[in-house]
Amino acid sequence: PTAETVAGRLLAWYDRHRRRLPWRAGPGETPDPYRVWLSEIMLQQTTVATVGPYFERFTARWPTVAALAAAPLDAVLAEWAGLGYYARARNLHACARAVVERHGGAFPDEEAALLALPGVGAYTAAAVAAIAFDRPASPLDGNIERVVARLFAVAEPLPGAKPELRRLAATLTPSARPGDYAQAAMDLGATVCLPAKPKCLLCPLEADCRARALGIAERLPAKAPK
Ligand code: ADE
Ligand code: SF4
Repeated sequence: PTAETVAGRLLAWYDRHRRRLPWRAGPGETPDPYRVWLSEIMLQQTTVATVGPYFERFTARWPTVAALAAAPLDAVLAEWAGLGYYARARNLHACARAVVERHGGAFPDEEAALLALPGVGAYTAAAVAAIAFDRPASPLDGNIERVVARLFAVAEPLPGAKPELRRLAATLTPSARPGDYAQAAMDLGATVCLPAKPKCLLCPLEADCRARALGIAERLPAKAPK
């Protein structure tokens, strides 16, 4: 199966099974880069279920990046309390200010310019470029790593396999609907291609999956012994 086949199957599955998440634009809606960025920062090391109420409170209180930039740092840290990793909240505030100062309050749509913002690493830059701006960027989170490792039956353990997984993930990213594609891969990893018990019989990529064919899906991705 070609990369186009895999992307097409995953997008068709997403159109039927996408999760409704507070930060996600509905079908046909235009995503708000501020909400996409805020959610991706909150979702680092924190679950979707925990982030939900925090995201709602933040966006109710500060509906735009300019509003967040104008807020006192103390207020942002207080609203963040419970999400952990306070450096993330400090960077969040610094990033909002940088978007206002450097970019006039509009998030840049290029991965490289996003990467230059405080607290924005490779994953977040790619996620925002793809989801907010429909750029063909390939964010690689734990869920997508697992899906890609299984699709291609990558036997090399993490973290050594990362460059190879990154390369393979990029080959799968379609030029049409790359933002939906990235979210589809995240959803597949979170709801179907589960770490211990993947639901391969429900998977739109079952026929394309080498680990499934080899009967080794639940063993991948391998982890290097500590
Ligand atoms: N985890 C991290 N980013 C996500 C997103 N945009 N949608 C669903 N799960 C995610
Ligand atoms: Fe994951 Fe199974 Fe789908 Fe392969 S067939 S991608 S292992 S759920």
